[in-house]
Amino acid sequence: MAADDMDIPAPQDSALTALYAPKPVRPGHPVPHITSLEEYSERWKRSLAEPNAFFGDLAKKLLSWSRPFDVVSFGDFTAGNVSWFLNGQLNACYNCVDRHALTTPEKIAIIWDSDEIGVHRSITFGEVLAEVSRLANVLKAYGVGKGDAVAVYMPMVPEAAYAMLACARIGAIHSVVFAGFSADALRDRILDAKCKVLLTADQGKRGGKTIHLKKIADEALAEAPCVEKVIVFRRTNDPSVPFTSPRDVYWDEEVSKQRPYCPCEPMVSEDPLFMLYTSGSTGKPKGVLHTTAGYLLGVTATTKYVFDLHEGDVHGCMADVGWITGHSYILYGPLSNGVTTVMFESIPTYPNAGRYWDLVDTHKITSFYTAPTAIRALRRLGDEHVARYDLSTLRTLGSVGEPINPEAWLWYHDIVGRGRCNIVDTYWQTETGSIIVTPMPGATPTKPGSATLPFFGIDIAVLDPTTGQELAGNNVTGVLAIRNSFPSVARSIYNDHARFLDTYLNPYKGYYFSGDGVTRDEDGYYWIRGRVDDVINVAGHRLSTAEIESALILHPACAEAAVIGVPDEVTGQAIVCFCTLKAGDEGDIAAALKAQVRTHIGPFATPKRVVITPELPKTRSGKIMRRILRKVAGLEVTEKDLETEDGLREKLGDLTTLAEPGIVAVLVKIFAGRT
Ligand code: WTA
Repeated sequence: MAADDMDIPAPQDSALTALYAPKPVRPGHPVPHITSLEEYSERWKRSLAEPNAFFGDLAKKLLSWSRPFDVVSFGDFTAGNVSWFLNGQLNACYNCVDRHALTTPEKIAIIWDSDEIGVHRSITFGEVLAEVSRLANVLKAYGVGKGDAVAVYMPMVPEAAYAMLACARIGAIHSVVFAGFSADALRDRILDAKCKVLLTADQGKRGGKTIHLKKIADEALAEAPCVEKVIVFRRTNDPSVPFTSPRDVYWDEEVSKQRPYCPCEPMVSEDPLFMLYTSGSTGKPKGVLHTTAGYLLGVTATTKYVFDLHEGDVHGCMADVGWITGHSYILYGPLSNGVTTVMFESIPTYPNAGRYWDLVDTHKITSFYTAPTAIRALRRLGDEHVARYDLSTLRTLGSVGEPINPEAWLWYHDIVGRGRCNIVDTYWQTETGSIIVTPMPGATPTKPGSATLPFFGIDIAVLDPTTGQELAGNNVTGVLAIRNSFPSVARSIYNDHARFLDTYLNPYKGYYFSGDGVTRDEDGYYWIRGRVDDVINVAGHRLSTAEIESALILHPACAEAAVIGVPDEVTGQAIVCFCTLKAGDEGDIAAALKAQVRTHIGPFATPKRVVITPELPKTRSGKIMRRILRKVAGLEVTEKDLETEDGLREKLGDLTTLAEPGIVAVLVKIFAGRT
């Protein structure tokens, strides 16, 4: 990776970084699992010194095995061939459903709260077992078996969870595609994984709007002939939704024909559990592959310790099941712990900005998990929306997906948590499967804006981005890397192990490379600074600049495109595209190019701005200098800076390699509104 693209994002305002002690236990609330920093530290040290003993014990304690493992970890992590819990046999669905359904069938597994306020449904572990089994039998009847990839393109309904669990039950590999992705994006993901079956819904509901899932899926399937069967859940029952018999079948009709029990397929530890496509630094999304035992242990342990779950708790993770946060902390983590999980179909501001807090009050949520973008948006809408609800059941408030600025952290702490809840800013990635840097509620003193300390078994190194040397000691800034193997780390990219190695393990030999910048402060606390690669994070959604660029240049008028992320008060980052046009194409096609991105990726990837420019700033060897684009679009350079060469150099660094230096002034003027 070129040093030009390795700018580490600037640190956040640090005026608000007082230390907050863990909160005292309130009457009627349980004592946390870990009660002091010393206890955390001792366990963390043991997890690194004796990982096999540590994770071997944890795996026996937290998971149910149909055959015990006999080797805890094996292989070379940084060569990309590590295995965990060898020769062990288990089933993720059994762990999440059966073992609780057998002992406490009446316990609530899922609370579904719909788009319509006041309409919600509680589903017991016993009911989940029956529903999942029926669906698993449907999948089997259509020839799906162990190792087959199944696409899931579902709205936020319990059936999305059943779909994933049914796959896990029979050993099929689910590939969930977020319902905000467009037909093209869905098609590409289906084709890459060669899915034979798609589980979808007629329509989805979100914030009062209808999402035409089946219509979009049909468009995708027109170019994805590998799909033989489409199982359609009727969410809205709208008769105008297209239905192509015999390829399409209705979910309710199919499951009603099946027995409510299906045996669990015994899976060996390293059998794949799922793949989830994520954006990287090329245009082609990659199917990050997770395996059964390691992933399940990672999410079970982190959900238990980071959210400090206890018997009778209700965990409310506001993510979508289409992203890793939904996989790990709506579905697998809470259910494996036998804790009630909330599935929320709507958005935080519909029908008003009190919606999250209404959920907490109604369902007596004890741990709540959302993204900084939602916290920032709600903070702007006023404290009165929070004040009118009883939030006394809350003990832990989590944040995930992007750096949280101290102001948002403090609002979460003071206004939502009312100063009584522990805030856990949790850092992790699709690839890590589970949380890797986080406070332990009850144990870790927190600082607003810092994800604090590593989870058990995680050994973090800060590397100099250019030399790759480790930066030892405290008060250092570099790229975040991991030295050691841990159970939930992804094992590969589906059908492309070479790409897995090139992306994560080859950039810095001997380490896993996260793609994030980080500071380790004077207390050894970690402050995640954001991506240093070509990944941008819009409202917690991870997008690759290359993927957006590929979409833009498919437009007939677009000659070249360069995409960057700029800071945005609510969404963290926003997308700005710079495009040059083909000869003969003139005029304002910015709107058409925005639409192009929506069509190829999805509405959540809509650029904030498309700038038509006569050329892009490039080096003489033809490499686009994104650093310049980032600074100009981030309004770090003004027209005044153009007046002297020194002024410009101070803002933009060395410009001697630029092929056409005049382009800088043109771009600055565009952003100053002068052209
Ligand atoms: C970012 C989401 C700062 C980071 C779980 C990472 C964060 C990317 C945090 C992964 C956090 C996630 N503080 N940044 N607490 N959590 N990120 O794969 O840049 O969708 O690399 O997984 O989100 O995004 P992904």
